[in-house]
Amino acid sequence: MNIYKLGAIPSTNSYLKELVKKEATESFTVVSADLQTRGRGQMDSVWYSSEGNNLLFSILINFGGVLAEDQFYLNCAVSLGILEALRAYNIPELTVKWPNDIMSDNRKLAGILIENSLSQGQLKYAIVGIGLNVNEERFPSELPKAVSMYQILGKKTDRNELLLELFEKIRKYATLFITGQYHRLMEEYQENLYKFGQTHMFETSTSEVFSGKIRDVKPGGNLVIEFEDGTQTSFRFKEIRFL
Ligand code: BTN
Repeated sequence: MNIYKLGAIPSTNSYLKELVKKEATESFTVVSADLQTRGRGQMDSVWYSSEGNNLLFSILINFGGVLAEDQFYLNCAVSLGILEALRAYNIPELTVKWPNDIMSDNRKLAGILIENSLSQGQLKYAIVGIGLNVNEERFPSELPKAVSMYQILGKKTDRNELLLELFEKIRKYATLFITGQYHRLMEEYQENLYKFGQTHMFETSTSEVFSGKIRDVKPGGNLVIEFEDGTQTSFRFKEIRFL
């Protein structure tokens, strides 16, 4: 395992992206930091973490011959790897909230930001960024849904050990992705999906609020929701959010 353990940097995803541009970088190289000054989250959000308490890391995965249209299965693989690693810690109600928030019960324990490099319809490499709340004692009031392993388990966790366990499980599932085991990945992803088949409230990007049930996730990653009248619609990421 090729690992760069750094102190404070703007973002592990950005650092790894620069490294890849500068030199040939081995697949499964890891960059981990104690603090990010510009940690990036989904949809241009900022990823919060105090210094030295959590895991903030990115993994480079190089590909050959993976079609761009299959990229969603990498999200499934990474989410499942994280879930498998965390299951050893007896964290209750672990699920993945579409597309890839790692939840314990109704609170967010980890976030994933995958940045893909595509060329001529193929996936060349991915930078898989993960922020996991490990030993954070409290979060700012603007983050009422965030939770850490410390808050759940009542004790601190060794971050170095946990990083190795996460790495091994993510590599295991990423290998399933690389070898094209998409059906298995999607099946397992759906088995672990937050609120799958349960009635829940959603809001569209045009501010429409409705209740529905998640019925499926399409191969490209769209979420299929069944409305109360029994009709179904599929939504792309950013078109809908959970309330
Ligand atoms: C989300 O919004 O849920 C995704 C959060 C991803 C945060 C991680 S922390 C390590 C890596 N570097 C970044 O700048 N972001 C990701």
